[in-house]
Amino acid sequence: MFESKSGIFFVAGLGFFGLSFLVMAVLPWTIYAGEKELDLNELAVRGITHEFVDLAERYPEQFKKHFGEVSYESFSEALRIGHRAYVAEACWHCHSQFVRPVSNEDLRWGPVSHALEYQNVLQRPVLFGTRRVGPDLIREAARRSNDWHVAHFWKPTSVAPASVMPSYRWFFDAEGYPNKKGMAIITYIQWLGSWLEEYPYFHGEGPDVAAPAPKEGAS
Ligand code: HEC
Repeated sequence: MFESKSGIFFVAGLGFFGLSFLVMAVLPWTIYAGEKELDLNELAVRGITHEFVDLAERYPEQFKKHFGEVSYESFSEALRIGHRAYVAEACWHCHSQFVRPVSNEDLRWGPVSHALEYQNVLQRPVLFGTRRVGPDLIREAARRSNDWHVAHFWKPTSVAPASVMPSYRWFFDAEGYPNKKGMAIITYIQWLGSWLEEYPYFHGEGPDVAAPAPKEGAS
């Protein structure tokens, strides 16, 4: 077998396949096997984002109508609807949610992704994505203001002149304010990466809301 070049390549191919399976599947599995998959409430109590509160202040009437008060319940509801819209609108067709440890991606988007970040219901179906027509979104939290997202979903070229992203007018009501789906998808987008230290509002200054149990972890 080792007399021919093709034999060597065959064995090397099998070897590298085995190695990558070991490093990318078996190893992470052994590290995270005991970790529970987080549900929506467990995600929400890790911290309501600054941007969710900002939406409530910016669009008080619409916010009240669609979500009521800022609370862990309304926050997890917005995340749930936003995530569903992201899947349904096929945003994943043009956007990935995974910072790879190659090509200096961390310089552009922030810390390299790790397996534990995906151990929750909002990564079902897994939204790594395979195409990047637009930028990766897993570190999008607080990168732009809510206003920017509103303008962008209404008409992407208004803030990114060369954009090929379609406009999403159905995220708005007749008056041009973001509707329930619009607020939810902004909440979801602004949540992506908010669990990291790099998120500017990470340290402690979350909104003061009546906390349901469990209380710890809310910040
Ligand atoms: C046809 C491909 C395409 C689709 C579908 C698409 N996008 Fe985009 N998106 C882009 C491109 C290209 C950009 C970069 C230019 C720009 O900012 O508009 C972008 C930019 C963005 C940005 C700004 C990222 C940043 O900080 O610069 C966000 C947020 C975003 N898209 C969210 C979404 C969401 C949410 C959906 C689904 C509702 C979606 N996109 C659907 C192509 C797409």
